[in-house]
Amino acid sequence: MLISGNGSNLQILIDKISNGEIEAEIAGVISNKADAFGLQRAHSAGVSTSVLDNKQYPDRESYDAALQKCIDDYQAGLVVLAGFMRILTANFVNHYLGRMINIHPSLLPKYRGLNTHQRALEAKENYHGASVHFVTPELDGGPVILQSRVKVAETDTVETLANKVHVEEYKIYPLVVSWFAQNRLSLQGDTVILDQQELNKGLLLEQIENCD
Ligand code: GRF
Repeated sequence: MLISGNGSNLQILIDKISNGEIEAEIAGVISNKADAFGLQRAHSAGVSTSVLDNKQYPDRESYDAALQKCIDDYQAGLVVLAGFMRILTANFVNHYLGRMINIHPSLLPKYRGLNTHQRALEAKENYHGASVHFVTPELDGGPVILQSRVKVAETDTVETLANKVHVEEYKIYPLVVSWFAQNRLSLQGDTVILDQQELNKGLLLEQIENCD
């Protein structure tokens, strides 16, 4: 797992793995920031960590090459980006095509990039949410696997909306990781395949819940 900060999504995965809800192992946590709180979460859970400080590298290419080596040394089957605040080079991304996922705090393709909650509020959106997607060289542009939406209230602020979206993130990221760990999920070309079915624009959590 790659992080830069708080690591609350990391924590949820740690918890769900330790209580047996997800059959997987976190091979290691890598942060580009030495003071990322997520590193403490990993230490407390006995998960190996590495810090790769981007300021120690002259350019993006050399950083991503070192990052690739670090990840590959952990021999991870899936690279999980969870608040890793770096733009990644195409070479790096292509090396992990189909085995790297990201969580983004918007209903993609809306609001790629930063300040998603602010932008959704300014646009007076009725709905906002979070998306898990395979990572491709286009920033926040890879095929969507699963989304969850929240209703935007007139009284919502950036903070209240961010909190609501986080709650949804904690549902959808573990679900997607567990699908991958169970070999149910893959990327073929531009198409997401779940249980042998092509997902056109990704699934919405409420669709799945309604099927139960
Ligand atoms: C999440 O909101 C995620 O959508 C975005 O970065 C944030 C990470 O939060 N990519 P945390 O570090 O997991 O608490």
